[in-house]
Amino acid sequence: MLNSLKIAGRYLQFLLTARTKYYIHSPFVYDFCESVLSDRRRFYAFADIIGLRSHLELDTREIAITDYGAGSSFNKSSTRKIQDLNQKVSTPDRDGKLLFRIVDRYKPQNVLELGTCLGVGTMYLARACAGKVWTIEGSENLADLAAANFDMMQQENIVQRVGSFESQLSPCLEEMQHVDLVFFDGNHREKATMQYFETCLQYAHEHSIFIFDDIYWSEGMMKAWAAIKADARVSLSLDLFHLGLCFFHKGKSKEDFKLYMF
Ligand SMILES: C[S@@+](CC[C@H](N)C(=O)[O-])C[C@H]1O[C@@H](n2cnc3c(N)ncnc32)[C@H](O)[C@@H]1O
Repeated sequence: MLNSLKIAGRYLQFLLTARTKYYIHSPFVYDFCESVLSDRRRFYAFADIIGLRSHLELDTREIAITDYGAGSSFNKSSTRKIQDLNQKVSTPDRDGKLLFRIVDRYKPQNVLELGTCLGVGTMYLARACAGKVWTIEGSENLADLAAANFDMMQQENIVQRVGSFESQLSPCLEEMQHVDLVFFDGNHREKATMQYFETCLQYAHEHSIFIFDDIYWSEGMMKAWAAIKADARVSLSLDLFHLGLCFFHKGKSKEDFKLYMF
């Protein structure tokens, strides 16, 4: 409750300083607003994934989950109903559609997701991606459920890795060789987030995109996001409140924007 109030306060502050596309002079960011944020097209994939969500919504089975990180709202080795995970832990459709449009616009071939859960975010990334999506999940039961969802959706460009980010991230990146887009969506702790950022950066390039979930979720995540924005290797940061994006374009002066989603 206290955390929800704090987040509401942070959102009010964000609204006071965020801008719409009409105040943006950067051509790249203006294009991002036009082709990603304001794109209202209804892709076929959205209906398919909303079908998957309706199926999960009706699933009252309980599964045992091992807590791997902050922000997952799991208690240590708790059990949760699948419908509950779908509602409270999976990426909301508004953000999933945004992930889809980012992939559709910038065409990353090697995509990595940290935190699969039931595979909802993975599906949004994978449906838009002509290459492959690697996704890492620590909880075996969740990874099994996600695998069943990918089979049901006949999504063949997803590579699952099961185990902690700490053990799986480096081998996964080595296998990928380079990473075009990373969605950081698990273990929302400052130190861990900074470590994953550094590790992924070793495999990133000028056109890579990093997307961080829940950048206002805690003081720790706010500090991590502030440090990431300030990092000299980041050329552009976009704060959408629930998500933070960073880009690494060479030869550009550093820019940072807070953008309304509507
Ligand atoms: C918020 S959920 C991911 C939601 C998913 N990306 C989506 O879009 O629907 C975070 C997931 O990350 C996993 N996780 C968190 N910390 C982890 C860690 N250190 N290693 C492995 N998995 C972890 C949790 O088990 C949880 O399933």
